[in-house]
Amino acid sequence: MTEHQLPDYRTLPADVAERMDQIRQREYVLEIDHVGKVFAQKRHQTVALEDIEFGVHRREFVCVVGPSGCGKSTLIRILAGLEETTTGRILVDGKPVNGPGPDRGMVFQKYTLFPWLDVCRNVMFGIEMGGTERAEARRQAMQWLQVVGLEQFAASFPHQLSGGMQQRVAIARALAARPRVLLMDESFSALDAQTRLKMQNYLMEIWRKIDITIVFITHDLDEAIYLADRILVLKPRPGRVEEVIEVPLSRPRRAAQMMSDEFLATKAHLEGLIRSFGGNTEETDEGADDFTMPLLTLVTDKAE
Ligand SMILES: Nc1ncnc2c1ncn2[C@@H]1O[C@H](COP(=O)(O)OP(=O)(O)OP(=O)(O)O)[C@@H](O)[C@H]1O
Ligand SMILES: [Mg+2]
Repeated sequence: MTEHQLPDYRTLPADVAERMDQIRQREYVLEIDHVGKVFAQKRHQTVALEDIEFGVHRREFVCVVGPSGCGKSTLIRILAGLEETTTGRILVDGKPVNGPGPDRGMVFQKYTLFPWLDVCRNVMFGIEMGGTERAEARRQAMQWLQVVGLEQFAASFPHQLSGGMQQRVAIARALAARPRVLLMDESFSALDAQTRLKMQNYLMEIWRKIDITIVFITHDLDEAIYLADRILVLKPRPGRVEEVIEVPLSRPRRAAQMMSDEFLATKAHLEGLIRSFGGNTEETDEGADDFTMPLLTLVTDKAE
């Protein structure tokens, strides 16, 4: 029996190649201009990111993957303005940004809704921050809840919602402030597989309807390939761009595409890359990381 030959992941079907051409012609909404980040500790320093150079086009969907510790969260925190760069800078619509701003919305992995505010008030929060008066903020919040399909839960409190619903409110809250870029760090990782797929489809629906550019960080290669126009692969120690992949899948995406040869070829390539870093494509919890780090240090100490 001959092994089934997968296509080259770099071969784009005609419609995808055309779409990528169109995307390339659009302006950059977000530019990562030679960004480096060093964390200085008492006895040593960690180069979390080194010379990251990348631009995200308007209405593009970019996923960032890489093994644990390669600097994904550091990168997205820098993009959000929650962390400063050591070298280089971030530009939004061509202008350098410092610190957080309403032009960038963020959705984290953990549910971060205000537990003491009902769903509508949670979404109103970002709108009112922008100076909009209350009645208008409420009207807009209800519209955003409609976009994420939760208008009938406007008066519920976060603890009354499932994890997936809470993340939909978090997305509505982030979008309600009308950011140019939506930044998502493992936003669906805490959800079960079925809910996760639903959320991925929701997110792509929303993204199709409105003018938003998305940077989405994930451990999950299936998720990255399913969602992204382009995938930025980071390698660890120091965090650097290893490769930028154009995903060879047509849009709109459907779950059935996960079984296509193009999907499998892309996944096989990504798995190979991450294996070559000595990393792991599976999600690791923090405890597992903590366990390997001291061991590595011990080995190094002995060698010296
Ligand atoms: N505040 C900090 N102080 C010191 N070192 C840090 C800090 N934040 C991150 N680091 C280090 O920077 C590197 C990148 O961490 P980061 O959290 O960005 O990785 P990651 O790719 O998001 O990992 P994971 O997939 O496990 O979430 C790691 O070596 C980490 O230990
Ligand atoms: Mg992280």
